Amino acid sequence: MRALTWHGKHDVRVETVDDPGIVNPRDAVIKVTSTAICGSDLHLYDNYIPSMMKGDILGHEFMGEVVEIGPKSTLKLGERVVVPFTIACGSCYHCGKQQFSACDNGNPAENQDAGEKLYGQTMSGLFGYSHLTGGYAGGQAEYVRVPFSDVGPIVIPDGVDDDKVLFLSDILPTGWMAAENCDIAPGDTVAVWGCGPVGLFAVQSAFLLGAERVIAIDHFDNRLALAKRFGAETINYKTTDVAMALRELTGGVGPDACIDAVGLEAHGLTADNVYDQIKVSSFMATDRPHALRQAIMACRKGGKLSIPGVYGGFVDKFPIGALMEKGLQVKTGQTHVQRNLPALLTAILDGKIDTTFLISHRMPLEAAAEAYKLFKEEQDRVTKVVLKPGMVAA
Ligand SMILES: NC(=O)c1ccc[n+]([C@@H]2O[C@H](COP(=O)([O-])OP(=O)(O)OC[C@H]3O[C@@H](n4cnc5c(N)ncnc54)[C@H](O)[C@@H]3O)[C@@H](O)[C@H]2O)c1
Ligand SMILES: [Zn+2]
Ligand SMILES: [Zn+2]
Repeated sequence: MRALTWHGKHDVRVETVDDPGIVNPRDAVIKVTSTAICGSDLHLYDNYIPSMMKGDILGHEFMGEVVEIGPKSTLKLGERVVVPFTIACGSCYHCGKQQFSACDNGNPAENQDAGEKLYGQTMSGLFGYSHLTGGYAGGQAEYVRVPFSDVGPIVIPDGVDDDKVLFLSDILPTGWMAAENCDIAPGDTVAVWGCGPVGLFAVQSAFLLGAERVIAIDHFDNRLALAKRFGAETINYKTTDVAMALRELTGGVGPDACIDAVGLEAHGLTADNVYDQIKVSSFMATDRPHALRQAIMACRKGGKLSIPGVYGGFVDKFPIGALMEKGLQVKTGQTHVQRNLPALLTAILDGKIDTTFLISHRMPLEAAAEAYKLFKEEQDRVTKVVLKPGMVAA
């Protein structure tokens, strides 16, 4: 089959690789009909996530048709499914608490050792996201093996377009959990750093969960315009002092909740960001937490901090004093995708959540290398790229 493989920083290639097959009784094999490129994939593309190996197949946002099932899969041949990016067994201690991205059984033992060294405990397996998370082949491919297919995938009713439901695989549940993690109370103001796909779904979700006001921060006009479309007030961090603007917009109090939907590759124009760039490029830190620092400093006393943005390792100049002294509540994590899938699918089918607004580009899988470059370098006009294995280049 054809698949997108990783070869190093800014080097991804569509190659012919072996077809996947059933390995365990609960597996299924999916013929991919749509797969998207995520902001998280850019962290791999930029080589920030350790333990990638040349030839690894990328992609964790995908859906398709069931073409092969193991004897213990509950899926049926021919069914259309969206697959969560987190690989979870459904029956361990953490899955029992619906904390699927903490699953104990989704990540093969030889890789858990590295996870334990880095994080104290290992996290669940993830599709196409390094050998720290299981080394699973991803879904930016014609076919993909789905472990625990009786737990993760959600079956899509006939007649519903891929574009409407594809983002159930990651960014919609991620934006939703980011807002859920703010424990929004009536009258709350929520500030969202980053108007990429995750930030934009966090904006939509915060309103649906009862926020009175949402303030969205980014510097791309196209992305800020989309946030505005959902009712957010916006701040362009290139032309406006974010801290001052947030104070003014909230009567000097600060937002009740702050969401960091930027993650470890934050951009910024201030001294701390330049410092981060130097530390990271000289291997003295791994992540650039500029947006996170700003969110902590801006949040109101006793407020809530939600971090869907991905961090991989260690940061410097982290304002732990402000976090503690102001009494902020922090919630974060890879998304427990499986937890909210049925409710979010219903919200899409009922027309309460719109996902199709996000897609700016649809391209053949064969053009995936070009698509990564585009998503990385032209965010001023690209919001989300969907790759179609079956599509013929124009
Ligand atoms: N927790 C999870 O399970 C999960 C799932 C999916 C994605 N993510 C993470 O969420 C983050 C966002 O993903 P995405 O797909 O929306 O990525 P993206 O790269 O498309 O968007 C990031 C946005 O942040 C903006 N930005 C950069 N620096 C900023 C700053 N200082 N202030 C405000 N905005 C700033 C960029 O301009 C960009 O629009 C990434 O870190 C991604 O890895 C986490
Ligand atoms: Zn993703
Ligand atoms: Zn589990």
